[in-house]
Amino acid sequence: MKVLRLENIDAYYGQSQALTDVSIDIKEGEFVTIIGANGAGKTTIMKCIMGLHRPRRGRIYFRNRDITNMEPWDRAALGIGYIPEGRRVFPDLTVEENLRMGGYRIVDRKRLENNLEKCFRLFPRLKERKSQAARTMSGGEQQMLAIARALMSDPVLLLIDEISMGLMPILVNHSLEIVKKLHGEGITVLLVEQNASKALKAADRGYVLETGRITLQDTSENLRNNDEVIRAYLGA
Ligand SMILES: Nc1ncnc2c1ncn2[C@@H]1O[C@H](COP(=O)(O)OP(=O)(O)O)[C@@H](O)[C@H]1O
Ligand SMILES: [Mg+2]
Repeated sequence: MKVLRLENIDAYYGQSQALTDVSIDIKEGEFVTIIGANGAGKTTIMKCIMGLHRPRRGRIYFRNRDITNMEPWDRAALGIGYIPEGRRVFPDLTVEENLRMGGYRIVDRKRLENNLEKCFRLFPRLKERKSQAARTMSGGEQQMLAIARALMSDPVLLLIDEISMGLMPILVNHSLEIVKKLHGEGITVLLVEQNASKALKAADRGYVLETGRITLQDTSENLRNNDEVIRAYLGA
């Protein structure tokens, strides 16, 4: 089944067009990346999927349901988890409070506690620091927290906006290992990334976004061996 389908999306900020005729398909269980330079429109795609920016043209489907006009919180409730750019966490809340915020929609007490335990198992570091204010954590730890918080709502599809931003290479690798593990457990992943090399190593399939248009789409392996991609994104 298709988890996500973007169909001919145009998006604008005022008069300025940020996305032109963007179509993307993601099947259940895939790990897909969209690579593109700064300003290409990656974050705008994420915002359109989440309902934080309204496209001027085109439709968005989640599991065959048209969500184009749905409110962001209803999209989240359907199972779309979102890790925004810059790993925003609530700085003055503790690690545990941040996680509980991520699961605030879950009314079943037991399920909430289970999810919290699951996050702590996945990120022992967060358990050690559960009473610490999020702002006192390192960049890498905050990225872990942002990922864990998104997991608290049991997402079907995880949207990740630039996991690599501002992180040391070793932490980028660690974060990507975790995402791969989550993918292995059945979560469908869409990662948008400026760091093409790392994204194409982690994902199964990729799209290239250039000034708001999809110019290429292929398996990650083929993209890694594509001369244009090598020249423009892999710095050879
Ligand atoms: N809130 C905004 N108002 C006006 N222009 C914006 C806004 N957000 C993004 N843009 C413009 O839209 C284009 C795409 O931006 P964005 O989606 O953030 O790209 P990326 O995430 O790939 O860096 C850029 O030209 C950017 O300057
Ligand atoms: Mg961005």
